[in-house]
Amino acid sequence: MTSFTTNIQSAAELLRTGHLVAFPTETVYGLGADATNPIAVARIFEAKQRPTFDPLIVHVADISQVDRVVREFPETARLLAEVFWPGPLTLVLPKRDCIPDLVTAGLPGVGIRIPRHPVALELLKIAGCPVAAPSANPFGGISPTTAQHVADGLGGKVDCIVDGGPCEVGLESTVLSLMTERPLLLRHGGCPVEDIKRLIGAVEIATSDATQDDAAQPAPGMLSRHYAPGTRLIVIPHNQTAEPIAGLRCGLLTAGKCRFSGRFARIDTLCDDENLQTCAANFFAAMRTLDSSDLDVIIAHEFPAHGLGVALNDRLRRAAH
Ligand code: TXA
Ligand code: MG
Repeated sequence: MTSFTTNIQSAAELLRTGHLVAFPTETVYGLGADATNPIAVARIFEAKQRPTFDPLIVHVADISQVDRVVREFPETARLLAEVFWPGPLTLVLPKRDCIPDLVTAGLPGVGIRIPRHPVALELLKIAGCPVAAPSANPFGGISPTTAQHVADGLGGKVDCIVDGGPCEVGLESTVLSLMTERPLLLRHGGCPVEDIKRLIGAVEIATSDATQDDAAQPAPGMLSRHYAPGTRLIVIPHNQTAEPIAGLRCGLLTAGKCRFSGRFARIDTLCDDENLQTCAANFFAAMRTLDSSDLDVIIAHEFPAHGLGVALNDRLRRAAH
C-alpha cells in the first residue's frame, strides 16, 4: 500500500528522479511525473490504464517556467494568465521539443496550468521540473478529491501520495485551446466560461461528435463516458420532482433545494442553499459514497446551468449510463 506523506521535500525528490507522486491541487488530486522524462510519463499511463491518445496537462510553479514548456505565449494567453493563474484554467499552446509526444498524445499543443494549491505550488517549485499530471484515478473513473480517494483507486501503483486535505474547487480545470484562430473551449471546469468570455470575448465551444469514436474527439476529456461511477446513473431536470423507481434501491444526488417524493435508500445533498461552489467541492466525494452504497441506481438532479453548474452538468452527463 502506498503511504501518505506531508513531506514535500522528499516528494519533490521522487519527482525529480522519475517516480510517480500523487499530489493535491485546488481542483482534484493529480498523478504527477516529470513531464520531460518520457519513461516517468509512460508510468502514468500504465498506472491509470489510460489510453495514449489522451494527453496530459503540464503543471508549473510560476510564469517563468511556462516559457520552458511552450514556444509561444500570445497576448490572449497573457491576459488569461494574469487573471486566472494560479487557478483552474488549462491553456493549450504550442509545445517545445523538451515535452515528449507522449505527454500531448502526438498533438502540437500542450495543456499547461499553474495550480493554486499551496502544497502543489511548493512541490512544483522544489522539484524544479514541469510536472505532467492527470487526475489521480483509474482511467474513466471518478476523480479524487482527497488523498484517501487516490489510495482507494491507485494505492500500490504510485510511489507516494502527498496529503493536502480535501480539494477546494472539486472539479477539474477548464481546458481552453489557443491553437486555433478563435479560442476553443475543450472542457468545462472550475473556471466558468462566462468569466473567460468577459475577459477575452467570443469563445467557441467544442462539441463531441457521437458519430466519431473516442480517439477522434476534439479533446479526449470529451469521451462520452467518463468520470463515471459503477452504479447506473440517471439525470433528471433541475425542477423535476425526483421519485424512486419501484422495486429498485435508489439513491438521490441533489444540489439542495430539489424536490423529491417517496423513499430513497440514500440521499446526498451537496449544499443546503444550492451554492454551486460548495456543490462542486462535494460532488465527486458524494458520487463515491453513493457508488459504494449498494444501490441499483443513482438519480441525480441537474444543476442550474450557469457558473460551475455548467461543468457539473457536463460531468453528470458523462457519468450517466
Ligand atoms: O484540474 C485538472 O485539470 C486536473 C489537475 C490534476 O490539474 N487534471 C486533469 O487531467 O483533470 P486529466 O488528464 O484528467 O484531463 C486532461 C484533459 C484531457 O483528457 C484532454 O481533454 C485535455 O485535458 N488536454 C490535455 N492536454 C491537451 C492537449 N494538448 N490538447 C487538447 N486537450 C488536452
Ligand atoms: Mg481525469
